[in-house]
Amino acid sequence: MLNTLLNHRSIRKFRQLPVESQKLNSVLEAAVRGSNTGNMQVYSIVLTTDAEVKSKLWETHFKQEMVSQAPVIATFCADINRFSKWCDIQDADAGYDNFLWFMNASIDAIIAAQNFCVAAEDYDLGICYLGTTTYNADKIIEILKLPKGVVPVTSVVLGYPDEAPEKEDRLPLKGVVHFDTYSDYQKDDIEKIYQEKENSEKTKDLLKINDKENLAKIFTDNRYKKADNLLFSQKFMEVIEKQGFMNNKQ
Ligand SMILES: Cc1cc2nc3c(=O)[nH]c(=O)nc-3n(C[C@H](O)[C@H](O)[C@H](O)COP(=O)(O)O)c2cc1C
Repeated sequence: MLNTLLNHRSIRKFRQLPVESQKLNSVLEAAVRGSNTGNMQVYSIVLTTDAEVKSKLWETHFKQEMVSQAPVIATFCADINRFSKWCDIQDADAGYDNFLWFMNASIDAIIAAQNFCVAAEDYDLGICYLGTTTYNADKIIEILKLPKGVVPVTSVVLGYPDEAPEKEDRLPLKGVVHFDTYSDYQKDDIEKIYQEKENSEKTKDLLKINDKENLAKIFTDNRYKKADNLLFSQKFMEVIEKQGFMNNKQ
């Protein structure tokens, strides 16, 4: 399992082969075995294999090719709907329609997603997360018919890999781990931590392609722009509210 974790790479090209149902089932069993809030499992997983639904999802995921290519798309949702309904039936007063429970349910969903990914990779399947889930959550809610109390927080494409990419770099451990208390970064520390990333061949190629003077600007000016961040933040906050997670007043 440790080798599986240490050899992780995201896969974005898939063979046109279905995932055997027994394997998919084991991966799902691993997903739901994850730790979760109070063992209430306040999440749901929606598996999409149908070509028509996949095509609709592909549109919402900014037409990323892997979404139409992968045999399975798994959408992991924060879900207080099921648990609250159970409480109602039991005449118990469910107070989960607030932001705290959006966070709890999102954490549950994300832990399930990561277990799903690690189990899949252990079977030599390939996975890639789709951050576009939160960008177009409103459309995904429509396509997947998610009721109030349910918000998609992340998605994963799954299938047999049709590529063997190199491992991506990571920041050095000492760049991300703090001992006992947080030691804030001085300019020197920041420069050291990002040095290898900035000087890699991959970065040099990216700078040429994007015609930018440094890597940080590729992130801020091209990949994750402030205007987009604000637009999609606003949209997502509206979704969270509409799905009934923002009743925060006493
Ligand atoms: C929350 C999240 C959202 C992501 N969204 C996308 C995405 O929309 N498209 C994509 O190609 N990769 C996506 N990725 C994959 C990352 O780009 C990838 O994990 C990162 O570049 C490191 O590469 P590696 O996973 O191969 O080590 C996402 C990863 C995470 C955790």
